[in-house]
Amino acid sequence: MKKVFTFIMKPKVDHLALTEISQNPGVKYIMDSSLVGLRSSIENIGRPDIILTDTNSMALLSEISDLENVEKKIILCPNEQANSEIDYIEISKIDEYINSFLNLGRSFEKIPLNFFYSMEKASVDIFIRLQKQGQSKFILRYAKNDIIELSDLTSYSEKGMVDLYVKSTDKDELYNMLSNSLCYEIGVNDSLDAMKNGLELSRSLFLESGYTPCSIQLIEELNTSLFNRLEQEASSSSEAELLQSILSSKDSLYYKKVALQMILGMDILKKEDWSMDRHFELYSFISLFADIALTDTKMGLISTDDEYDKSKFDEMDAEILENHALLAFELLANYEARPINVDLLILEHHGMKSGIGFSKNIGVGLNKIVVIFRIAENIAIEMLKKEESGKSFFMDEILDLVEKKFDSPRTRKILDQLELSI
Ligand SMILES: [Fe+2]
Repeated sequence: MKKVFTFIMKPKVDHLALTEISQNPGVKYIMDSSLVGLRSSIENIGRPDIILTDTNSMALLSEISDLENVEKKIILCPNEQANSEIDYIEISKIDEYINSFLNLGRSFEKIPLNFFYSMEKASVDIFIRLQKQGQSKFILRYAKNDIIELSDLTSYSEKGMVDLYVKSTDKDELYNMLSNSLCYEIGVNDSLDAMKNGLELSRSLFLESGYTPCSIQLIEELNTSLFNRLEQEASSSSEAELLQSILSSKDSLYYKKVALQMILGMDILKKEDWSMDRHFELYSFISLFADIALTDTKMGLISTDDEYDKSKFDEMDAEILENHALLAFELLANYEARPINVDLLILEHHGMKSGIGFSKNIGVGLNKIVVIFRIAENIAIEMLKKEESGKSFFMDEILDLVEKKFDSPRTRKILDQLELSI
């Protein structure tokens, strides 16, 4: 969903002329007439793709640093004027302009193929993408209400296809349907596959739209189900076998890291004599959503200052990575039913009270749950790196690597506890 904001302090323009934008199903349209309102809209919904304003209000936008990278700023005016940095557009032409700029109605959105495994009948038109001579062509594969054969999807997957496509304007409807069906599969059938897909879907929903009834519903289902489900898996084999099967699976990196840090951290937490039910709920939530603001799952493998300095993300991604704890905190601030203080714990999950950057210290002055999370997360990261490099390893090596990353007696004490259990 594309976001279009209007910010006009003392409206002289005819707002009614903009109502067509608000009716557009591919656009989330917000109108503000004060900086406080605009800041709160950005906090709740995220940065807009387009901001419409007038000449008098334009100067005030510079007070909001989040707006510096907005793709398009447009000044509404009676007549078009030429300007190299800002577009001046007649109000009567604005809807047509936005449609063409955002490519609405013609653009397609990528949806992970595995989201469709639980769908028996296509809820919207579904396309596959063919690429020829550098050009993309979208072919209708399932029209709305067509039956989707699971064998077709597995055959696509075997051929290396990872995504299907829907029209941008259908994406919200699809996500609503998927979210409801995944919540049902998780809540009623306790399906681990639905939990994996639910985790991916909740990330997509957050990155695009922040907190919505769909994303909240999924979070709550996942927070009450995933750890219990992993414990069941461990009881039918052993914890070591479960860790190994997660590492070597074809699941997404995000899910693998969440599952590993959840199992490892809960193990430590169970041995703490102060731990109670609410601590397990907090820990589960941190494991699931601390990294929700990361735009590339590979960013989740960075957890220290050194690793950040050596990483090779472009400027924009590096900024997101550096600020992701703060971004997650800000997203959570709007979720009223969150476990108490989980937003503050997520803010400091890389050891910085500001939520910006990465601390070398394991946790001076940090909540004990955060310290446990930091250790479990780093063990998970080192295991994932070894697995990715194809090298076999012993758990002792991993624990030594983590100890070296965070040289403090507290780290060793927690690692010793863990060594006893694995
Ligand atoms: Fe993180």
